Amino acid sequence: MSNHASPDRLTATAGGALRGSIALPGDKSISHRAIILGALAEGETTVHHLLEGEDVLRTVAAFRAMGVDIQRDPNGIYRIQGVGLDGLREPDDVLDMGNSGTAMRLLAGVLASQPFFSILTGDASLRQRPMGRIVAPLSQMGARILSRAQGRAPLVIQGTELIPLDYQSPVASAQVKSAILLAALNTAGGSSVQEPEQSRDHTERMLTAFGAEVEREGLRVRVEGWPTLTGQLLAVPGDISSAAFPLVAALLVPGSDLLLQGVGMNPTRVGLLELLAAMGGSIEALNPRQQGGEPIADLRVKHSALRGITVPPELIPRAIDEFPIFFVAAALAEGETVLTGAAELRVKESDRIHAMAVGLAALGARVTEQADGVRIVGQPDGLAGGVTVDSFTDHRVAMSLLVAGLCCRAPVTVERCANIQTSFPAFLDKMTGLGASLTVP
Ligand code: S3P
Repeated sequence: MSNHASPDRLTATAGGALRGSIALPGDKSISHRAIILGALAEGETTVHHLLEGEDVLRTVAAFRAMGVDIQRDPNGIYRIQGVGLDGLREPDDVLDMGNSGTAMRLLAGVLASQPFFSILTGDASLRQRPMGRIVAPLSQMGARILSRAQGRAPLVIQGTELIPLDYQSPVASAQVKSAILLAALNTAGGSSVQEPEQSRDHTERMLTAFGAEVEREGLRVRVEGWPTLTGQLLAVPGDISSAAFPLVAALLVPGSDLLLQGVGMNPTRVGLLELLAAMGGSIEALNPRQQGGEPIADLRVKHSALRGITVPPELIPRAIDEFPIFFVAAALAEGETVLTGAAELRVKESDRIHAMAVGLAALGARVTEQADGVRIVGQPDGLAGGVTVDSFTDHRVAMSLLVAGLCCRAPVTVERCANIQTSFPAFLDKMTGLGASLTVP
């Protein structure tokens, strides 16, 4: 679906420093939300710098299938003709969300209140992921959703009128929170979600920008139903979760010095930067500014000697997608790194604790898998490598193991990499442009 098809196998070889300056692709979380709210608003929404990764293109395709006119101009600017909260049309086929948990969970929230029938499915990874965490609260709102055993997709939704809900979520999950807030938009009255820790707040920020009434009180966020959402002009910040790969590569490869331009610095997303700073990483945020209701900055990153740390548990939700690459930093730091309380990593695009423990161990890292985390004893002199490892079809595991391969004494081949195109289609071009040796074997 993307114009940068990612090869399925890539080889990383240690080489020179990473140097130069790159712009990052648009933030994936924000891109999904821009399409969703643009479709549900009145009037036109224009989105600059949308991430054209496969996950977001699935969301685009789903709304097109529900009658929303979404056009891309030759400069990559998207124009969405919003149909309002009651203007979607029944899709005439199953909606395939591919690899995207965000697309499936947020769409389920939207579709639960629409007066038509729909089915959401996805690839083998997505069909294994827990959907009960959204089906349960949406059902409390009166939603009629059927799933396979243990809340697995496909989800079959007979949309209906919902009742408001005040929900105490057992997990800090922006997807759970957003599914409920999106269902609440088309429901009379106010609904709220309280989380155990603050997850990313892009939905709340964007809803406010579109004109919804959103209130936050501590860890509870509340939205009033039936707002008038008005089309907006949006510019999506660079994705900090994609920046993480060149960033950690630059910290690890001697002589590196990079400028990563226009990176989203939302406080609910910068956990990795805090972890790496605590490890001794040299990362400077320059030229802080606002873009699309979100803080952004340019990040200057230089090679640094890293030290192992114990991850503070309250920081986990703010770094949730960055643990695969964080484990790579830990495997090459001086001393021990300990992560506990991160069982959520087992239900991402792959079981990321297992996938990374297996992959890093194969490269020669000293890593012990635990039920809810890992212990890693770093080897600052580099890893052995010289093997072929599996990404478990997980884009972030693939990119993380390739960065690890840049720090190995012998080349590393990573298999089943094609899903890199779900979040960072230009990964190979950008990394090789900075001097990394990544090749198609
Ligand atoms: C996302 C929320 C997080 C994150 C995912 C994107 C979002 O998932 O891991 O990559 O856009 O809302 P959870 O809500 O499952 O924590």
